[in-house]
Amino acid sequence: MDMVGRFKLLVLPGDGIGPEVMGEVWRIIDWLEKRRGLQLEISEGRVGGAAIDADGVPLTDGTMAQALSVDAVLLGAVGGPKWDRLPFAQKPERGLLRLRKEMALFANLRPAIVFEALVDASPLKSDIIRGLDLMIVRELTGGVYFGEPRGIETLADGSRRGINTQVYTTEEIRRIARVAFELAAKRQRRVCSAEKSNVMESGVLWREEVQWVHDQEFPDIELTHMYADNCAMQLVRNPGQFDVIVTDNLFGDILSDEAAMLTGSLGMLPSASLGAPAADGRRRALYEPVHGSAPDIAGKGIANPLAVILSLAMCLRYSFDRGAEALLIETAVRQVLDGGMRTADLMQPGRARVSTRVMGESILRALDKAGG
Ligand code: IPM
Ligand code: MG
Repeated sequence: MDMVGRFKLLVLPGDGIGPEVMGEVWRIIDWLEKRRGLQLEISEGRVGGAAIDADGVPLTDGTMAQALSVDAVLLGAVGGPKWDRLPFAQKPERGLLRLRKEMALFANLRPAIVFEALVDASPLKSDIIRGLDLMIVRELTGGVYFGEPRGIETLADGSRRGINTQVYTTEEIRRIARVAFELAAKRQRRVCSAEKSNVMESGVLWREEVQWVHDQEFPDIELTHMYADNCAMQLVRNPGQFDVIVTDNLFGDILSDEAAMLTGSLGMLPSASLGAPAADGRRRALYEPVHGSAPDIAGKGIANPLAVILSLAMCLRYSFDRGAEALLIETAVRQVLDGGMRTADLMQPGRARVSTRVMGESILRALDKAGG
């Protein structure tokens, strides 16, 4: 917070459709300031390819320091073919990974909720996904994403070897397990932990430590264990069996994309990445849509802004103590979808296909009606 008690928000639009969808967020923030008395101290920065082009690196030390000084970061998306050929350590994605790591955002919350109006947009049969509401809790600062040793080395015979290391410690597993159990306690009280303990020692440890946290601290929450491949299969077979899924960084990356698609579009899903609570209960936080920079549709004004708008709602709820405004936004999204408006990614026969801008405007109009 700043000296007059305003929350600080750093906005990083990033690449591809990031700036386009963030454009609609700016308008909603504006609305919240004018109509709901929200007071924010907002700054804007560059991340990913945008930062590479302007600053030569995917995230400057200055932007990193700024991210560490605010109450929350809202990010669009990073990456694109333009930067694909850069050496690994200079790629746009490194900017995002640096933010996650240095802000110590170990808990990634990825809800997958099916809006009734979009039941038919899902590639799965409507009776399988109707009412779906699950939460993937992905460990975000450990595992194979950051494990050492890593690299590509050249062997004596001139061939090469690529190396990454999957590594987890007791504490890393226990703290993410606690986040999952605490969330489940406010939901349907069921946690499923996914790993590959049939082939990986780190998976054996994962299973044991999650079980330990359960037995010691959350015996009243139902805990099941599943191999991650089976979990991927169960997600399409019967996703309604899940409430909270807790899993590591890599499996969480994959399973959350899969869960997102169940809902009809990646363009609908927000996420929150949280650090450990400080003494005053506040935690570092970064909010971003689950979708990427979608270079194939960037610049066309057709991207779906709802995932980043819903990310703003999560930010209002978890970082700014504004649950009422979060609910207003979520309700507005539901109403606009019920009214038949669809961006291209959600398009169904008989619906009105609208641009990013018109979708954003419709949300504003729904907000006007609901909470002006
Ligand atoms: C995600 C993305 C990132 C990841 C990429 C962009 C580094 O896929 O947030 O799921 O793999 O974590
Ligand atoms: Mg991913």
